[in-house]
Amino acid sequence: MESAVADTEGATREPVLSLKGVSKGFGAVRALTDINLDIYPGEVVAIVGDNGAGKSTLVKILAGVHPQDSGTIMFDGQVVSIPTPTASRALGIATVFQDLALCDNLDVVSNLFLGREIRNGLSLDEEEMEQRAWSLLRQLSAKIPSVRIAVASLSGGQRQTVAIARSLIGEPSVVILDEPTAALGVAQTAEVLNLVERLRERGLGVLLISHNMADVQAVADRVVVLRLGRNNGDFHVADVSYEEIISAITGATDNVVTRRASAHAGSASAAAAAADASGTGTVESGITEDFRTHETPAPGTEENPQS
Ligand SMILES: Nc1ncnc2c1ncn2[C@@H]1O[C@H](COP(=O)(O)OP(=O)(O)OP(=O)(O)O)[C@@H](O)[C@H]1O
Ligand SMILES: [Mg+2]
Repeated sequence: MESAVADTEGATREPVLSLKGVSKGFGAVRALTDINLDIYPGEVVAIVGDNGAGKSTLVKILAGVHPQDSGTIMFDGQVVSIPTPTASRALGIATVFQDLALCDNLDVVSNLFLGREIRNGLSLDEEEMEQRAWSLLRQLSAKIPSVRIAVASLSGGQRQTVAIARSLIGEPSVVILDEPTAALGVAQTAEVLNLVERLRERGLGVLLISHNMADVQAVADRVVVLRLGRNNGDFHVADVSYEEIISAITGATDNVVTRRASAHAGSASAAAAAADASGTGTVESGITEDFRTHETPAPGTEENPQS
C-alpha cells in the first residue's frame, strides 16, 4: 500500500520535524507502532485514518501530552524529547486542539496574548497588543470584525482563526491543527483552509488532522495514512485518488466507501483509479478530474471516510 515518497522539494531540504519508529502503548493497547513521519517547512501534511487509528495519540506525543515509549523525534535536525506541553511550545511546535481552549468572555486581543501579555512597565501595553493583533490577523487575511469583541460572539470559523493566530504568537515552525474544520459550515471551512495556505506561505510545516477528504485534497501537499496505529500510506496529494486514500484508510481495495465514490465519480475517474492502482501515477488527467469531483461538494458535507 505504501507509496514511495520521493519528495522532490524535500530531497534538498531537511524536514523540520521527523519521527522515526515512534511507538506508544496504553496498557495492552498498541496505539502507535513504529511510526515514521517527516514534515518539511512550507508543507501541509494531512494525517488521516479511521477512528482509533492513532491520530490524536500522535498529536499528543508532539504536543508534549504523552511521551512516546520508543523511537526518536527530531526537530530541526536535533533529537529532542518532548516531556511537557511547555517543552513542545519552546521547541516551536504549536498545537491547536479541537476544543480550541479560548476564553469566551475575553476579547480577541486578550485571547491572543493570554499568558504572553506585552507590558509597559507594570501595566499591560494594550495599544501595542492591539496593533500586533491587527497586524497578525491582516497577515492571515482573517475576517474578524473587531479585536475588542468577546470571543463568545465570534462564529466558529472566526474562533478557529483566533486559535490559529494565537498559536503563531510564539513564532512556531510547526503548527498542528486537530480537525480544524470539523464543526464548521461551508464559508467558514473555506476561510480556515485559506488560513492553512497562509501558514504554508509563511514557511511553516503544518500537520492537519482531518476526517474530511475534500479538505485534505483541497489544501494538503501530502497525506499520511494511519491504520491500526501503523503507517499505511504516504502520498503526494497530486498523485493519489480519493479511492486510493480510502483504501489505505480501510485496508481494503473494495469497500462500501470506494464503491460509492466510484459510482459518484463516474466511469472515467473509476478507470483512472484502477489504472493507477499500481501507483505509477501515469493517469494524471484522470486523477485531476477525480479531485474536482470530490472538491465540488461543500466542504464539511463530503462523505466521511469512516461511514
Ligand atoms: N489515554 C488513553 N488510554 C488508553 N487508551 C487510549 C488512550 N488514548 C488513546 N487510546 C487508545 O489508543 C488508540 C488510538 O486512539 P487515538 O485517540 O489516537 O485514535 P484517533 O485516530 O485519534 O481516533 P478518532 O478518529 O476516533 O479520534 C485507540 O485504541 C484508543 O482507544
Ligand atoms: Mg482522535
